[in-house]
Amino acid sequence: MGKKKIESELIKFGSDPEIHHGSLSDPIYKTSTIIFNSYKDFTKAKKNRFKLPYYGRFGNYTTKRFENLVCRLYASEKSIITGSGLSAITISLLSFLSKGDELLVSENCYEPVFNFCKNELKRFGIKTSFFKNNLPSELEKLINNKTKIIYLESPGSLNYEVEDIEKIVKIAKKNNIKTIIDNTWATFLGFNPLRWGVDVVVESCTKYFSGHSDNFCGIIACSELNYNKIKLTAVRMGDFVSSESCFYALRGLRTLSVRLKKHEENALKIFKFLKKKKIVKEIFFLPDKKNIYHKLWKKYFNNANGLITFGIEKKVGVEKFLDSLSLFKIGFSWGGYESLILPLNQLKPEIKNYKNSLNWFRIHIGLESTEDMIIDLKKGFDNYEKK
Ligand SMILES: Cc1ncc(COP(=O)(O)O)c(C=O)c1O
Repeated sequence: MGKKKIESELIKFGSDPEIHHGSLSDPIYKTSTIIFNSYKDFTKAKKNRFKLPYYGRFGNYTTKRFENLVCRLYASEKSIITGSGLSAITISLLSFLSKGDELLVSENCYEPVFNFCKNELKRFGIKTSFFKNNLPSELEKLINNKTKIIYLESPGSLNYEVEDIEKIVKIAKKNNIKTIIDNTWATFLGFNPLRWGVDVVVESCTKYFSGHSDNFCGIIACSELNYNKIKLTAVRMGDFVSSESCFYALRGLRTLSVRLKKHEENALKIFKFLKKKKIVKEIFFLPDKKNIYHKLWKKYFNNANGLITFGIEKKVGVEKFLDSLSLFKIGFSWGGYESLILPLNQLKPEIKNYKNSLNWFRIHIGLESTEDMIIDLKKGFDNYEKK
């Protein structure tokens, strides 16, 4: 990551005033067609189409700049920018799988990944087994000679279970299996899985990285060896990221470190408030010392974020709580500046009835005043408990 502190690096990254007439931020290059001065240049570009300007969908100045930047963030040999976080995941999976192969996926993965494996991969004769979190010996039992990938999400979606990456990587390497991890929760600032031997890292820049709920973008960081396969798949699938998306992601990056700290600080205050509410029966929040993954989280991660999941005693319909809120809006995704709430039917895609006696919610703690957030939540709880 160079000698400078990351906060200083994030301000400078990807800005080239010298070649852009003094403009502090780089212009957005918009191009589908790239033209060549001669046949010689054309054939050279064709041979090196992942490196040199060739055709807009393969990359242009803006997207290449962003790729170089991602390599610095993850200290990776290579990176690929994709149209969304989910396409970064599906492209990475497809790059290493063929008919008859099998893969192991952590059971608390982001639900669309579960659906992709269960439906799309299945149609092409690829079998997925879902493994329980943090039981490496159980995971090892699921491996056979068809297993090609172990796919991890840590902390996992909705209840933030943490994997012991070191142990899993060891098992994967012993069995010659590729590891892919979704690192969206922590971002590159909080955790670098490549340093722990994971083969491929994906991150949805739609979340904290871009940070303003107005952008879709995904990143893949990996070695040169894995890059060729993944980039080929991305290009063949027709995946595309716009220069605007890269620009917005880069702009978000400038303030990422400050925003993440504030999200975490605010979430801590809301966690303390929720802990005192009698009606709140369970809370998943990794900085909570009572959380069973707290120690493992401390081992791997430098940060928390604004995500908290909690379950409240089932009294009446969830709408009594949700519709009383005005600051917390009901909505998908997270990582933007605003507070959001999402009612949950289940905490893991395959396990429908986890403590069904509770009504579950995931909240994303934004950058508003925590006093206002507490007033809002109090109003919600009061209404919910009203006879
Ligand atoms: C953990 C996680 N990974 C990946 C994604 C997918 O990202 P995108 O919305 O950019 O496709 C999400 C989206 O909510 C997510 O929560």
